Amino acid sequence: MLERYGHGGDLRTAEEAYGKPEMGFLDFSSNMNPLGPPSVVRHILREGWRDIVQYPDPAVRELRSKLSAKCNIPMESILVGNGAAELIDLTARVLKPQVTGLARPSFSEYEEAVHKSGGGIYNIPLHAQHQFVLQQQDVEAAQTAVDLFFFGHPNNPSGKLISREVLAMLKQGDHPCVLDEAFMDFVPNEQEHSLLQHAAESQCLVVLRSMTKFYSIPGIRLGFMVAHPDLIKLAQQLQVQWSVNYLAQRIGTAVLEDEAFEISSRQWLQEEKPWLIQQLEQLGLDVVHGEVNFLLFSFPVSMGVTVKQAQQHMGRQGILIRDASLFAGLNERYCRVAVRLREDNCRLIAGLHTMLSDLTQNRG
Ligand SMILES: Cc1ncc(COP(=O)(O)O)c(C=O)c1O
Repeated sequence: MLERYGHGGDLRTAEEAYGKPEMGFLDFSSNMNPLGPPSVVRHILREGWRDIVQYPDPAVRELRSKLSAKCNIPMESILVGNGAAELIDLTARVLKPQVTGLARPSFSEYEEAVHKSGGGIYNIPLHAQHQFVLQQQDVEAAQTAVDLFFFGHPNNPSGKLISREVLAMLKQGDHPCVLDEAFMDFVPNEQEHSLLQHAAESQCLVVLRSMTKFYSIPGIRLGFMVAHPDLIKLAQQLQVQWSVNYLAQRIGTAVLEDEAFEISSRQWLQEEKPWLIQQLEQLGLDVVHGEVNFLLFSFPVSMGVTVKQAQQHMGRQGILIRDASLFAGLNERYCRVAVRLREDNCRLIAGLHTMLSDLTQNRG
């Protein structure tokens, strides 16, 4: 199993499993923007080493000020973290929910964070027949049982956004809610969907963002939280001092200025995703049409293929795919892949084709 530590993108485990060097894999199991990182990142890493003799700014002022201007949010409502992962954990520690409503399937770190802070989980199942979109009646039904909702928006692994009706409910502020918008930058017209600005003033809503996916800097670690200034202060008190290192702060500030990168990234996804969906469907796979840079699909029962078999076969071909059956609420037929550049996507499709021919022939 490649997800030994709970996530995709674990090249070291792949190296151990398939005996190829880490860099020899084509990785569809984590969801990075293949156009990244922006070129300025290389420059900062080349030149910036001289300044690592200083401590980073403990208040991350320059990056917060940039985010504030770009997102039109007061600086006091922004806390920067060492990746959205740190902020998921921090949010749970600040809010200390007793029972948290989680959509199933969703990103496993929500549950981990809630458990670490001593709380329990209330499951809100998402259904294939609704394309895994959260249903308003299910959220309403959960309201009396939970003191916090923690949702992915868009959700991982489905890539689906929360509907306008459910967002309207959450905005009303009757119920505390955390929205993880880690992949929101990939959504066309994201301003129409994001609750970032609403969270800056709300007493009830926290929005988390990642900068590691869109800018392809997961090794640098960077994310931010937007919430009411009172909650930001509490979170700051619990955050480890200097948690966001000097290079991450400089890189984050610089990439926000690269508008050309943003535009070309959106253009790439708009062209590439429909093509990849079509190719996957031509292989006979059931694809969930998500809004972001990854796709959830399942092998139809008639194929008799499990994702574990598929992952093994693809791994031996040097291609890593995500075993989505490890997400609570999905069965052994579910798989997730990132959208990459055309040449890589062609290799994925060819690899899946070989794997399906081999595995379905072996059955007959
Ligand atoms: C939905 C979701 N939220 C948050 C994260 C963590 O992001 P970061 O790299 O910014 O810690 C991930 C990472 O895969 C994710 O999938």
